[in-house]
Amino acid sequence: MTNKNQDWTGNRKSVFSSLGAKTCALSKREPTDFYATDPHALEVLLETLKQDGIVLPHKICEPACGMGHLSKVLERHGYEVDSYDLYDHGYGKTGVNFLESNLKYECFLTNPPYKYALPFVRKALENVLPSGYVVMLLKIQFLEGKERYKFFQKNPPKYVYVNSSRQNCAKNGDFEKYPTNSAVCYAWFIWQKGFSGVPIIRWIP
Ligand SMILES: C[S@@+](CC[C@H](N)C(=O)[O-])C[C@H]1O[C@@H](n2cnc3c(N)ncnc32)[C@H](O)[C@@H]1O
Repeated sequence: MTNKNQDWTGNRKSVFSSLGAKTCALSKREPTDFYATDPHALEVLLETLKQDGIVLPHKICEPACGMGHLSKVLERHGYEVDSYDLYDHGYGKTGVNFLESNLKYECFLTNPPYKYALPFVRKALENVLPSGYVVMLLKIQFLEGKERYKFFQKNPPKYVYVNSSRQNCAKNGDFEKYPTNSAVCYAWFIWQKGFSGVPIIRWIP
């Protein structure tokens, strides 16, 4: 008996969709890939980094800033932030394609467009200054995959901070319309340029 909500295919599809797997996702993606990060996700990271004695550089570039949800948190915490985006979501300097840019900073921090997550990390590592940091909010599935396996061999993150509670990213920045996205687990991946050791995994309470 086939029922689109309950049969094997339907269930698999909804699981894949919840996890954001690109071949099976059912809901329509936002065309510019704009999903704003709940500022709480960065607040708890900054708090945890502080407790762990990890200090990010004072000047930070948010290269895909959307409506500035992450930039504003950084500024509230005293960082100097330059914000850019390819598209105009009403914040930062727009029309800047990070993947083709020559932006040089001591630190890049963003939640990148999902379909370009790996190119964004690669580009940030290429452009970041020596010993600088690249901090990316990524789905935990970023850890897996054959292409990323090869990438991680040469570019291990220094830290992976796994969120113990689910964080929300709202389509178009509309947290009222899209209040939860609880099927997706995000982690903060932190690279330091030049690091070649074994990554440390930690959990954000
Ligand atoms: C997942 S959203 C995150 C927005 C913001 N970083 C946040 O956390 O709230 C990804 C953002 O990447 C932007 N974007 C997509 N492609 C880009 C590119 N090639 N260069 C710069 N920004 C890009 C989108 O416009 C969107 O604002």
